[in-house]
Amino acid sequence: MSTILFGVWPYLAGAVCLVGHVWRWRFDQFGWTSRTSQLMEKRWLAIGSPLFHLGALMVIGGHALGLLVPASATRAVGLSDHAYHLVAVGGGVAAGAVFAAGAVILTIRRFLSRARFRLSNRPADLVMYALLGITAGFGLGGTLVLNAFGQGYDYRPTIAVWFRGLFVLDPRPELMAAAPWPYQVHVLAALALIAWWPFTRLVHVWSVPLGYLIRPPIVYRRPPS
Ligand code: HEM
Repeated sequence: MSTILFGVWPYLAGAVCLVGHVWRWRFDQFGWTSRTSQLMEKRWLAIGSPLFHLGALMVIGGHALGLLVPASATRAVGLSDHAYHLVAVGGGVAAGAVFAAGAVILTIRRFLSRARFRLSNRPADLVMYALLGITAGFGLGGTLVLNAFGQGYDYRPTIAVWFRGLFVLDPRPELMAAAPWPYQVHVLAALALIAWWPFTRLVHVWSVPLGYLIRPPIVYRRPPS
């Protein structure tokens, strides 16, 4: 069972994600949007959206450090395991709290608002909200219960090694199977979210206009008279 869940499912989810994006781009390019509801409500969006997106960037940064950088590398630059643990738990709780606060505000705004708002909820996006909630809930729950207030669980020799192994086609499902169950649920839901991604409004992530950061500013001049 663990081979299917943690050895096969990651690749299947990745393949669905890739093929799904190609399909969406070819057949629904005009639907490739965040489907913003800014015109319906602005006040709560102005608070929830920056919190959610800042939290997401913090969570991505934390995952990159925790999952991609081996313990030997942090030790080599002089960071003791204890110091790493403090940074990881502190940063993880902060990132998760900002992300969750944004998500809660956006969810309440979307589901408690007027009926026309609810009409803009597509079924594929509703599934995505559920997957996002389960993934973030079990991630933050695991961090709080097991690491911040519990006995502590070092995911670097297990989950992180499993994760990196996926990219060199050396999956070691037994490592994930030995992890605490909240992290297992977290990872399975995250993989489902990755597979479901192309069919939702999350595709807008790939269209962030980063060019605006480096392109020369537009200079407005009066036309020559
Ligand atoms: C297969 C991919 C993923 C793996 C292997 C993974 C692994 C982990 C691990 C090990 C933790 C616990 C960190 C700790 O206890 O300090 C965690 C926490 C968390 N994860 Fe993930 N995760 C993945 C994908 C995602 C995704 C897609 C999301 C987006 C919703 C996410 C959101 C979170 C959040 C909010 C936390 C709690 C805050 C934090 O510690 O950063 N994870 N994840």
